[in-house]
Amino acid sequence: MKDKLLEIKEKVIDRIDEIDALEECEDIRVKVLGKKGDLTQLLRGMGKLSKEERPVIGKLANEVREEIENKLTSKKEQIIEIQKKLREEEEKIDVTVNRNKLEIGHRHPLNHTMEELENLFLTMGFSVVEGPEVETVENNFDLLNSPQDHPSRDLTDTFYITDDILLRTHTSPMQIRTMKTKKPPIRIVSTGRTFRFDDVDDTHSPMFHQIEGLVVDENITMANLIDTINTFIHEFFGDDIETRFRPHHFPFTEPSVEVDVTCFNCGGKGCEECHNTGWSMELLGAGLVHPNVLRNCGIDPEKYSGFAFGMGVDRITMVKHGIDNIRLLYDNDKRFLKQF
Ligand code: PHE
Repeated sequence: MKDKLLEIKEKVIDRIDEIDALEECEDIRVKVLGKKGDLTQLLRGMGKLSKEERPVIGKLANEVREEIENKLTSKKEQIIEIQKKLREEEEKIDVTVNRNKLEIGHRHPLNHTMEELENLFLTMGFSVVEGPEVETVENNFDLLNSPQDHPSRDLTDTFYITDDILLRTHTSPMQIRTMKTKKPPIRIVSTGRTFRFDDVDDTHSPMFHQIEGLVVDENITMANLIDTINTFIHEFFGDDIETRFRPHHFPFTEPSVEVDVTCFNCGGKGCEECHNTGWSMELLGAGLVHPNVLRNCGIDPEKYSGFAFGMGVDRITMVKHGIDNIRLLYDNDKRFLKQF
């Protein structure tokens, strides 16, 4: 019986060493120590033993049972510990993983054009100045020699904030702001938002962008204006673009011109877009600064002269990228903006 006991013990201990699931521990417990278990069955035969043998075998049996129970308990703890580790490994949160990845954007095509224009004029010796979108009527109209009955002053054309304050209708008040604070020689450009009471259509928006240029010095003539604008157009659009200067009228320049360039679509051959003229019309307005404007800013028109120009940034951006609807520039649709 003693041998049997030790045999059971050895077999069970070896078996316990091999297992790796909690259910198996329970299986072994039932099979060995349970009511019908091997050990229990064996001990049923204790009655046949002699008086002397009985306590010895009884003691050994208790030791074997204890040893198996201890072994099972420590195995269970071991399995639970391993499973816990595995679970921790699985559920581990990697805080360095960025699931809601932020997309890095880029400049809006309008800002990009303005920056490109500013950089180009910087290389031509201009400096860049900035001014407010909310302006005085004085800077926007009066000091720019705009007659009291000029149509652009009309309530239906201009956003007034008070009788004296408005949203600037063009960047030309930057001419006034510059000439009031700087003495010639002056060479500046200024970009920014401008506002007019326009209904939205494919080419109009009540808020749009302009770039203004101003040069004031001794002996500035139309030749300087034409050369500066030609240089800029060729640098910006390419050497094969031609320009055409047409007489025009602005209250703050005299003489005044509008500048056309060869049609971007057909290159000057004539197409539907340019109504078969070969010209893309009114790319910019320009002229020699009116003596009244110089005088209004305290600059002596007998000594100094100057030229100014103004251009729509939205229009330039559209022709440059082949955009046919200005609304696209303001919709903020990422599918559109991503392309630039
Ligand atoms: N301010 C004019 C416009 O908005 C453009 C311009 C600027 C014309 C400077 C001449 C000189 O149409």
